[in-house]
Amino acid sequence: MPRSIIAGIGKYVPGNVFTNDDMKQFMDTSDEWIQERTGVKERRFANRTGETTATMGIEAAKIAMERAGVTPQDIDFIIFATLSPDYYFPGCGVLVQRAMKMKEIGALDVRNQCSGFLYGLSVGDQFIRSGMYKNILIIGSEKHSFIMDFTTRGRNISVIFGDGAGAVVLQPTEEEGRGMLSTHLHSDGNDAEILAVYNPGTHANYWQKGLADYDDAEIGEMYQSHTMIDKGQNYPVMHGQDVFKKAITKFPEVIMEALEKNSFTPADLRLLVPHQANLRISQYVQQKLKLRDDQVFNNIQKYGNTTAASVPLALCEAWEEGRLKEGDLVCLAAFGSGFTWASALLKW
Ligand code: ACO
Repeated sequence: MPRSIIAGIGKYVPGNVFTNDDMKQFMDTSDEWIQERTGVKERRFANRTGETTATMGIEAAKIAMERAGVTPQDIDFIIFATLSPDYYFPGCGVLVQRAMKMKEIGALDVRNQCSGFLYGLSVGDQFIRSGMYKNILIIGSEKHSFIMDFTTRGRNISVIFGDGAGAVVLQPTEEEGRGMLSTHLHSDGNDAEILAVYNPGTHANYWQKGLADYDDAEIGEMYQSHTMIDKGQNYPVMHGQDVFKKAITKFPEVIMEALEKNSFTPADLRLLVPHQANLRISQYVQQKLKLRDDQVFNNIQKYGNTTAASVPLALCEAWEEGRLKEGDLVCLAAFGSGFTWASALLKW
């Protein structure tokens, strides 16, 4: 059975840099507060009208495809992970297919937030192993700057996140000592509401009271209401400390699961590329697994948390900086809203 390898990887970040001090124009915050709690120094925000989640994904994809030596016509499946799609539906996958003039191939959209890219990678890996596809394009991209509350009310969330994209081309290989060894996917919906965007949605306060104020209407109009907008109920919600506690348990667990499944220990890792949730979370995981600084890659300082884009963006930057050589053992891990969490272990 063939294994999948990352034959090409690319990233795209918008040109607009917003430092922590720049954020003070919009809200009551400080560089010290942000850096101390999250490690973020600056983030990129997309051109407000000139670029979208899909177009940033396409820019990353072009680089990944060029590095893999393939053209858009060679791609036989698209997987697109994001929480900030261009349209509520259809998903970004078909926008990529159209813009890149690809064949009438399958396009799958993944809604797993921070672990979306790893869920996509796992799905792609199964298609490669089964022999169904030979060139799968997997994209993670986010335009958070369009959906955040940039007032003091939303400062606990909006200072953490940034925009950007990463993409890989997955191909089969028979080469010994290279490729994806295993992927591991998990979820626990008990805390679905503690890191979420509730509205617009069809929940009607069914799962939990008070998530939305609806206008009086006989039928319809519950999806989005004027009151909802007036009260800011369409912005992301995060109970940071609960997220922190769960993340520092699940990250080490899912990394160890991948290592143990393949009879490795943390000491064998050349590089751990964790989802860039928060530098404090990465540091906790590093300490818990007794990893050296050179075994963990972080770039949240420059880009903030880019959700579905963060793993491919960090992996691409690590590779561009020469931190990965052929055959190196690499672990990718993510944790996020849902909660969902995942890992992938591969020989580069
Ligand atoms: N600037 C200044 N002050 C702020 C800011 C800000 N940006 N945000 C919140 N505060 C204030 C609050 O208003 C509060 O003030 P008060 O004490 O006067 O009421 C005080 O700081 C503490 O607020 P908390 O929300 O309790 O802050 P906490 O210390 O928990 O830090 C943080 C928040 C950084 C989000 C933390 O909980 C955390 O690291 N959580 C992990 C979650 C995370 O990192 N998520 C990333 C995205 S999710 C993912 O990718 C999995």
